[in-house]
Amino acid sequence: MISIQNVRKIFPSKQGHLKAVDDVDLEIHEGEIFGIIGYSGAGKSTLIRMLNGLELPTEGTVNVAGREISKVKGKELRKARQEISMIFQHFNLLWSRTVSENIAFPLEIAGVPASQRKKRVEELIKLVGLEGRENAYPSQLSGGQKQRVGIARALANNPKVLLCDEATSALDPQTTDSILDLLVDINKRLGLTIVLITHEMHVIRKICHRVAVMESGRIVELGPVLDVFRNPQAPITKRFVQQVTEPEETKDTVEHLLERYHSGLVIQLTFIGESAQQPVITKLIRRHHVTVNILQGKISQTRSGSYGTLFIHLDGEQDEINKAVDFIRSQQVGAEVITNV
Ligand SMILES: Nc1ncnc2c1ncn2[C@@H]1O[C@H](COP(=O)(O)OP(=O)(O)O)[C@@H](O)[C@H]1O
Ligand SMILES: [Mg+2]
Repeated sequence: MISIQNVRKIFPSKQGHLKAVDDVDLEIHEGEIFGIIGYSGAGKSTLIRMLNGLELPTEGTVNVAGREISKVKGKELRKARQEISMIFQHFNLLWSRTVSENIAFPLEIAGVPASQRKKRVEELIKLVGLEGRENAYPSQLSGGQKQRVGIARALANNPKVLLCDEATSALDPQTTDSILDLLVDINKRLGLTIVLITHEMHVIRKICHRVAVMESGRIVELGPVLDVFRNPQAPITKRFVQQVTEPEETKDTVEHLLERYHSGLVIQLTFIGESAQQPVITKLIRRHHVTVNILQGKISQTRSGSYGTLFIHLDGEQDEINKAVDFIRSQQVGAEVITNV
């Protein structure tokens, strides 16, 4: 569906040339929700803007839905942009137009007759859950509602690809979740390919099938979301995964704990996929003569399973502790001894 080959984007700057995107190769499949994560300045927006011709690559080719986007111009480019639409962090709505009129706008541009426009707008209002708000102006809407208008407008001309540039970054966590649910719903119902960029791992883990991690214009890691959670390679990926799997205070707490316990073991358990659903701790307590203190933990759901970490303290006879650790490992749960106090 989307094929990016040897793409570079260089901007002239005072200090010479700035490589915003540096030698990127990427294939995105039809019907996929593909996430690109990176910190500010990584080159995410530049990359996604090359997918609908808002930026041209300095080198390389970009193919989307059978078109070489980096080559098309004029009328052909306008047609391509109807098939590859986009939503933005700050919604980019027309403030003097109502909800309905905003959604109708791309239909007007495409020359759709008024009667058909009306019908299509009604469908879209329903699809994004804005019934009753048709005649409101953007200033009268909440952030989540504004993004729903943005999504409806982006879907007006039945695109094949939806590009989302930090589409939830201006929203609070609850509203973010409701917009992400809407994107999953649209992806399933319409079979739409979605490419989204974000700096939040929560967004990736909640809805993406695959993820690419971007740093300094390059893709440093790529894979199915659960695989990347399970086995992050690059240091930056590890940091992103920690955003959702480890509570921020973990390090402090563990150091604190080491001071508190003078016997036994502190162990970090890693749960992946199926194992996160099993009652490992219950079994551990029933089968082994050890005392178990649960210290700290966090489990996150991804689309294809769970991932999480749990810190526990085991105490008892050394022999029993060893057996308990073996038992944990036999349950397909990662167990790393943090300290042997
Ligand atoms: N039009 C432009 N002209 C010059 N430099 C730009 C332009 N657009 C982006 N850049 C630079 O390219 C780099 C990547 O920017 P961007 O793609 O916006 O990153 P991100 O979306 O990951 O925050 C940044 O250093 C940014 O300043
Ligand atoms: Mg950006």
